[in-house]
Parts: sequence; structure tokens; C-alpha cells
Amino acid sequence: MICWLFEFETKKLNDKAINIIENLNNFQAISYSESNSIFEYKVYLNRYVTEEIFLNSIFSNSGIDNYNLKKKIKIKVSNISGIDWLHENFKLFMPVEYNDFIFYGDHFKERIKYKKNKIRLNSSDAFGSGAHPTTEGCIKAIKFINKKIKINSFLDIGSGSGILSICASKYWKNAQIYGVDIDKTSIIRSRLNIKNNNLKSRIRFELMHPKTSLNFKYKSEFDLVVANIITSQLSLLARYIEKKIKKNGYLVLSGILDYQLKIILSKFRNFNLILNKKIYISSWVTIILKKEVKYNESKYLP
Ligand SMILES: C[S@@+](CC[C@H](N)C(=O)[O-])C[C@H]1O[C@@H](n2cnc3c(N)ncnc32)[C@H](O)[C@@H]1O
Repeated sequence: MICWLFEFETKKLNDKAINIIENLNNFQAISYSESNSIFEYKVYLNRYVTEEIFLNSIFSNSGIDNYNLKKKIKIKVSNISGIDWLHENFKLFMPVEYNDFIFYGDHFKERIKYKKNKIRLNSSDAFGSGAHPTTEGCIKAIKFINKKIKINSFLDIGSGSGILSICASKYWKNAQIYGVDIDKTSIIRSRLNIKNNNLKSRIRFELMHPKTSLNFKYKSEFDLVVANIITSQLSLLARYIEKKIKKNGYLVLSGILDYQLKIILSKFRNFNLILNKKIYISSWVTIILKKEVKYNESKYLP
């Protein structure tokens, strides 16, 4: 795998800057550590860019008004293509536990003794270990909705490792559960994950082409749709996502930084989706929306 590592130290970058980095072309991953308020960032890209392009892309759009800060940053760039850093990261992956679940990697399978729903999850090459706030927000939302209604059909847009579909299958034993993703590796990984959890007959994952805009064949409307994808994609897909929700059904959206919430809410309000709940974790927010039936529509319903 081709991989370039960009290492630098600076004051803490704001959420906007981190979001820009995560949306760079060829972005793979970011990690940081802190000591005495100095942050050491490591950014992994799968293509080389010059230091100047890298810094300009972060600083010109992030609202960071510190030309001096940019000047002070020294970047160390290394080609680490020979190193399987995903595997190295995978070795560090510790079990994650919250709500009704414990998620653990393949290498922990013998040692997990908890009574909770144990989910064996390999997320070495697909997003969704359970540790990220956007995933946790979705799982909290799913638990919240479980207390309100029974779900018979569930759609997971941007299914990654398959984690959200797997959790849904634990809450709603008879529901039809579908996951879609534009990334082939994620689809392969999520299918392996459901096999390892004996859920192969319960969940179906399909590769989706970004341009088909959710026009897949198997089902047209769902009681609950969940989408944990970046805000720009949520906005682009809004009118297609709305069509996938049954009347009085629910939509959970995640992948939203708190400063992006207003934009997303105004976009989805155009489709009679009413805000039901907000779940904040770190600087991320997950929202639950309900597709309300309008009064003049409901009187014609059986
Ligand atoms: C943040 S991950 C979420 C993974 C998992 N659902 C979770 O909550 O941990 C986003 C996933 O969405 C996929 N994705 C990005 N844009 C998409 C789109 N337009 N349609 C479907 N999937 C998309 C990515 O490939 C990635 O697997």
C-alpha cells in the first residue's frame, strides 16, 4: 500500500482544520498526541503532496487567522509505503464498550468474557471500530429509537465495517437490514464481519455507485435510515435519503461537526424532517429526525 506520513507539531488545530485534513484527496488517517499544550499530528495520505500544498490547504480555508503559526510549522514527510500501518494500528485496537455492546477485534476473540452483546469486529480496512464519536452517536440514537418503536426495516448508508447494521440486528431480531457503501473493501469487510457474528442470513450489504444516488433494487422505503458520512455527502444525498424513509419513520444523521449542524438541519427541513433529538459527543453531533405526516396528508391515510 502506498502511504506518505506528514508529521508536525503545533498548537491545537481547530475542528475546521481537522475536518479539512480528513477531506483531503488521498486522506487515509490522522492521529495526534499532546504534551504541554503542544500537539504532535501525524497525517497519512496515499499520495505525495508538497509541504506547501499541504499547509495551504489546511490554513487557507480553516479560518485559522495565524499566518505566524503556519510559518512556524515544520513538516517531516516520510514515505512509509512498505509499512503496513493499518495492521500496526489493528494490533493496538482495544475492545470498545458502551451502551449494550462490546466491540472487539479478531485478535481478542478468546479473551472477552463480558455478558453484554459481544460483537467481533475487524475494522482494519473499513471505518467503524466503535471508538469514533460519530459511530457512538449513531449507536446511542439506535438505542433511543428502540425504546420508542419497533423497526421492521433498517437502512445503513455508508455501512463501513457494518457495525451499525450489526447493532440494529441485535435490537430488532426480525427486521430486514440493509447496508450500502461506495467502497468495495468496506463491503467485503462488512460481509466478513457478519459471517463472524453468525448474522449472515440477517443482514445484506451492497456496493453502491456514488452516482446511482441510492437507486438500489431491493427495497424502496425503510422505518429507520442511518447515515454516518461526511456533511458534504449528507447534503448532496439529502433528497435521495428522504425518499428512503417511510412516513412517520426516523432518520439518524452523523458525521456532523457542531458548527455544521445548522447547514444540515436547514437542508433536511426542506423535506418535512423534524428534529427529534441531538446527541453531542466531543465536537460531533448526531441527530435524530422524524418524517412527519402532514395533517392534510394523514387524513387520506388508511
Ligand atoms: C464514517 S464511515 C461510517 C462507517 C460506519 N457506518 C460507522 O458508523 O462507523 C463512512 C462510510 O461511508 C462511506 N461513504 C462515503 N460516501 C458515501 C456515499 N455517498 N454513499 C454511500 N457510502 C458512502 C465510506 O466509504 C465509509 O465507509
